[in-house]
Amino acid sequence: MAKALCPGSFDPPTNGHIDVVERAARYFEGVVVAVIANPSKQSLFSAGERSDMLSASLAHVGNVEVASFDGLLVDFARSRNLTLVVKGLRAVSDFEYELQMAQMNATLEPGLDTMFMAAKPSWAFLSSSLVKEVARFGGSVEGLVPPAVGKALRGRYRETGGR
Ligand code: PNS
Repeated sequence: MAKALCPGSFDPPTNGHIDVVERAARYFEGVVVAVIANPSKQSLFSAGERSDMLSASLAHVGNVEVASFDGLLVDFARSRNLTLVVKGLRAVSDFEYELQMAQMNATLEPGLDTMFMAAKPSWAFLSSSLVKEVARFGGSVEGLVPPAVGKALRGRYRETGGR
């Protein structure tokens, strides 16, 4: 059974991300969660912080490894002998971009396949951007993100005063 590669920005990880990784871990031998070090948008958290939050939030799942990568996903996948990307889809609006990325990756590396996993309906509205916005203005993100992420968000916005 292959290992699944779950890549993302995870800025920060949400319960939706955790749910997809937990479920992928049930179907595959293992899951490599790959945190992009330099996402196109400036991130709130460093790659190290995002990786630490994921490791803490996925410590209960035995067959998950958290790694970070820079550059093209296909190069990271090749360097680790991974041939299957698993990504969550919340809504049809995610599908167009995700399909485009899957097809670009398959063009760059024909051996790399992508499978999509439907997000749980309870997380369909959830995104890292919205979580940051709620936390920035002092709203509660309890129940939307793992406890380690809630703590990190409160700390970060306390430091910056919401800026
Ligand atoms: O959390 P996201 O925004 O869905 O993650 C997107 C990510 C990091 C998986 C994607 O941007 C990516 O793979 N970036 C690495 C650069 C790359 O390989 N680009 C070509 C793929 S189209």
